[in-house]
Amino acid sequence: MSIERKAVRIDSRTPWLKDVRRMLSPMSGVTDRPFRDLCRAYGMQMGFCEFASAAGLMYGGEATWKLVDTEGEEDWVGIQIFGAEPEHLASAARLMLGRRHDVLDLNFGCPAKKVVKKCGGSALLADLPRLEKIVQAVIAESDKPVTAKIRTGWDEDSVNYREVGLLLQEAGIQWVTMHGRTRSQKYRGEANWDHIADLVETLDIPVVGNGDVVDAASYEKMIRHTRCHAVMIGRGAFGNPWIFREMESVDQGVVPKPVPFEELCRVSAEHVRREVEYRGEPQGCYSVRKHLAKSFRGYPGAAALRKRLFATEDSARMIAILNEVACFDDPRGAGAAAGSEAE
Ligand SMILES: Cc1cc2nc3c(=O)[nH]c(=O)nc-3n(C[C@H](O)[C@H](O)[C@H](O)COP(=O)(O)O)c2cc1C
Repeated sequence: MSIERKAVRIDSRTPWLKDVRRMLSPMSGVTDRPFRDLCRAYGMQMGFCEFASAAGLMYGGEATWKLVDTEGEEDWVGIQIFGAEPEHLASAARLMLGRRHDVLDLNFGCPAKKVVKKCGGSALLADLPRLEKIVQAVIAESDKPVTAKIRTGWDEDSVNYREVGLLLQEAGIQWVTMHGRTRSQKYRGEANWDHIADLVETLDIPVVGNGDVVDAASYEKMIRHTRCHAVMIGRGAFGNPWIFREMESVDQGVVPKPVPFEELCRVSAEHVRREVEYRGEPQGCYSVRKHLAKSFRGYPGAAALRKRLFATEDSARMIAILNEVACFDDPRGAGAAAGSEAE
């Protein structure tokens, strides 16, 4: 039996949201198409593309458009755009017309200097008139439901998620995702789940909770603490698409099982194959490295394995290494006690 959440007003344009609980955060450099597909196979219900600059979509080249490559992607998928100029975001929304996506998400949370110095991302939390203009302009142009992802505020002295949430709800946003940190916290400290719980109680529309969910236990704890409609996972999924299966177990009321080592290797090999199919050789090999490094981190022998995997630009070789390692016993078992190289 799934855990009780707050009853919310789900818009008729997103009836499917009723059953969507497990989302993958947009993560720049991480949540590309092959990774989203992999997470989906493990129980992710909705994935988000890496954020794309509105100006980049208007004037940029292939690289920006690759960020919003959703052609033929299964349900449910969101495209996220960012920028500071309402006209740019409206143009980006027009450019997305007819493109495969289920929602168009607005980024009001990015803390990166290069984004906020141009008044985009989380800087908009400190400029609500501009934020409102952006929301109105995008809703007017988009053929899809529009959602927003925010932080709790710019800094500790200007926590304003209630005001922002009510503004977004009033403007016609379908749901709000909130990362429970301020911009000035960046990724430091802990996400404030009390603030997420408060936003859930404040709004009638769904709130998606985000921040510091890293496993089944923290997933369950966040839902119980905040009663949020769905949970969005970022860093906890990086190198760990299995987290969605753990979360699904929680939703089904069964005990989650840890991922067997053999499966970790087999799926990593599949990830290499998909990245290379998507980006070609050797770019796919480079792109998958960060995922592999995360997946095996903490395993005895991980450093040596990483060295072998990173020494090659040939996907067939990488896959062969992973298949070879898959035949070993889980190194966290007997091998760990034998004192093999740990990280
Ligand atoms: C490498 C990286 C890239 C990120 N890129 C984006 C992005 O493109 N858009 C966005 O809204 N948030 C982005 N975020 C923030 C995450 O979506 C998420 O809000 C944050 O990591 C907190 O959730 P977590 O504790 O589950 O990781 C990024 C985070 C990381 C670590």
